[in-house]
Formats: sequence, structure tokens, C-alpha cells
Amino acid sequence: MTGDPVDGAGPGSDPPPWRRRPRYSGTHPRRFDEKYKELDPARFPEMQVHVRAQGRTPAGTHVPVMVETVMEALRPAPGDVVIDCTIGYGGHAAEFLRRIAPGGRLVGLDVDGPQLERVRARFACAGASISLHRSNFAGLPKVLAAEGLAACDVIFTDLGVSSMQIDDSARGFSYKVDGPLDMRMDSRRALTAADWLGRLSRDELAEAFRDLADEPDADAIAQEIVDRRAAAPLTRTAELARLVRQVKKRRGRIASAGESAARVFQAIRMIVNDERGALSEFLRVAPDCLAPGGRLGVISFHSGEDRRVARAIREGLARGVFVDASVEPIRPDARERYDNPRSASALFRWARRGA
Ligand SMILES: C[S@@+](CC[C@H](N)C(=O)[O-])C[C@H]1O[C@@H](n2cnc3c(N)ncnc32)[C@H](O)[C@@H]1O
Repeated sequence: MTGDPVDGAGPGSDPPPWRRRPRYSGTHPRRFDEKYKELDPARFPEMQVHVRAQGRTPAGTHVPVMVETVMEALRPAPGDVVIDCTIGYGGHAAEFLRRIAPGGRLVGLDVDGPQLERVRARFACAGASISLHRSNFAGLPKVLAAEGLAACDVIFTDLGVSSMQIDDSARGFSYKVDGPLDMRMDSRRALTAADWLGRLSRDELAEAFRDLADEPDADAIAQEIVDRRAAAPLTRTAELARLVRQVKKRRGRIASAGESAARVFQAIRMIVNDERGALSEFLRVAPDCLAPGGRLGVISFHSGEDRRVARAIREGLARGVFVDASVEPIRPDARERYDNPRSASALFRWARRGA
């Protein structure tokens, strides 16, 4: 494998010191690092099967979304060059690799250093057919240039965060477990969620909750954040989740407190990682990175993102860059939504460049 150097321990670094498994209170582990059976599938293979049968995602893994649908639309074939712009743990990439052999090449991008290390280990046997870059997909043309490629056959993006990132409380993505308010996918970013919560004005916060996450109590939650931070900065996910719950309770909407917390966390995550900026730039540059007949596929997880993807595809069709595209967003079927509840909000669109 080739590609840029990534964060985290290199092949020559010392193994981590042995640590006793943490004891957890109660009958079920809650924290990511307490789920020792799920995190050690080699020793406890039955645990993965058990957790999946319950419709949950085992800790430390990610169940890829709509793999068959994506492959049907993007048609990776032997010899193709595929760019997986959000390789994550490589669920889609594994299927791409299988279908482009022999002679194909897969280039994987991710901004998350530790995530890239895990997928590097997963595909260690794939040799020269895969190269990995710690890069934002907004920089796709630079990655192509670094690979010596003028264009590629398939560009695929699976937006948002992976289950492995959500499940790791130390990353601060989940409102369900306590952790630092971080939410950076790329640890090289200067500002964490706590920093943004400390500096955005009341109106900016309200606008973000409304526009990025359709939160009906956006103003009240923004006001509460501003009031609380006047006393002490918000630093923990549990504090923010509690604050949202209290606002919803006061407004007689406690039943939707969980949904609102998820929305508020999503909006903040999008700001921390400049997800709108990255997607806009990606949609601008991606068509020109496709070879004649090349295919673009994007999975998004909320209507705001899907609208932007739809608009870019419409514009590409109008300009004659694309000659064919999905008309409506494609959703996972009932079976997949049941087996993998995290897939429920996925919306997939594709487009094909003219030959
Ligand atoms: C939903 S996961 C992808 C899961 C992957 N398809 C799989 O099957 O394992 C999204 C991944 O994209 C990465 N990511 C998010 N925004 C990115 C960006 N702008 N550029 C590159 N990677 C990004 C995240 O760090 C995360 O690992």
C-alpha cells in the first residue's frame, strides 16, 4: 500500500502497555472500551453474530449501507480505477476490490488518521491494488494528481461518520454516552465542538440547529447554551444532551428529546468538520475527475445533504456532463433497515458521465 503518512502508531512503534480490562458497573457494558467481547471477535466470534441478530452494530465495527445497490449502480468492473472518498472501515471498498480484480486499482481517502490505520491493517494483503490517503475529499483532484491519474472510472462517497467513530465515547460524537465535546473527524483541525459552542453567537447556533438539522426548538436550545456557558464552558457530551432534554421538557416535548439531541449533535458535528464546505467543493470537482463513462455515487444521511447532491447532478445533466442519473434518492429496503437500523436515513444517488 502507498499513500500519505497517517496519524497513529507506525509499524515500528512499541506495543501499548498491557492494561487490565476495565470493570464496568451494572450488568451491561456501556462504554466503548468496556465492550471487550465485541472488540475481540477473534476470541468471541459468537458475540458479533449475537449483536447483529439484535439489529445492533457490534462495537468497533461498521456495517456498510446498501452495498448491493451501490455496486449495481456504479458497476465496478475488472481493471477499473475506483476512488472511495470515505473509506472508513472499508465495507464498500472490500466489495469494490473484489469486483475490479484483476488489474483494478482502488484509492481510499479518509480524514480520520486512526480510522485509516485500521483499514490499512484490514487490507494489508491487498498489496499494490490499493493506496490510502489521509485527505479530505474536497481535495480529490490533488489525490488523483499524486496517484498519477488523469481520471477514474468510479467515485464513491458515503457521507457522515462511521459506527466506529460514533461508538467511541472519547470522540464525542454520541449524545448517548458521556465524553469530551470533540467531534473532530480529523484531529488536525484546530477547533473542537467545545470551542465552537463557546464562540458561536446565539443567532448562529439557532440558525445551525434549524438549517443543518431541522430542529423545531432551535432558538430555545441556542439561548440555553448561551445562558449556561456564561457560567461555565460546556465541555462534555452529557452536559449538552442534558441541556437539550431540559429545554424539551420545559416546552412540553420530552418525548422528542432524544431526536432533538441527535439533531443538535449532528448540526455541531457538521460545523466542526465543515461538512457543507467539503461537500460543495467535492460536488464541484468530482465530475471533472471522472473518465468518459465514469460513475459517481453519493450516500447522504439527511435531506439537506441530499438536496445538494440532487442539485449538483441536475446541473451536471443540464450541462451535458452527465448523461444518466438516478431520478429519486434510493433508500435501503425494509430488510436492511431492520437488520441495520443505522441505515434507515440513508439516501443514495448516482450519475454517469457521457462517453
Ligand atoms: C459513513 S463512514 C464510511 C464507511 C465506509 N463506507 C465503510 O463501509 O466502512 C464515513 C467516513 O468518511 C470519513 N469522512 C467524513 N468526511 C470526510 C471528508 N470530507 N473527507 C474524507 N473523509 C471523510 C469519516 O472519517 C468516516 O470514516
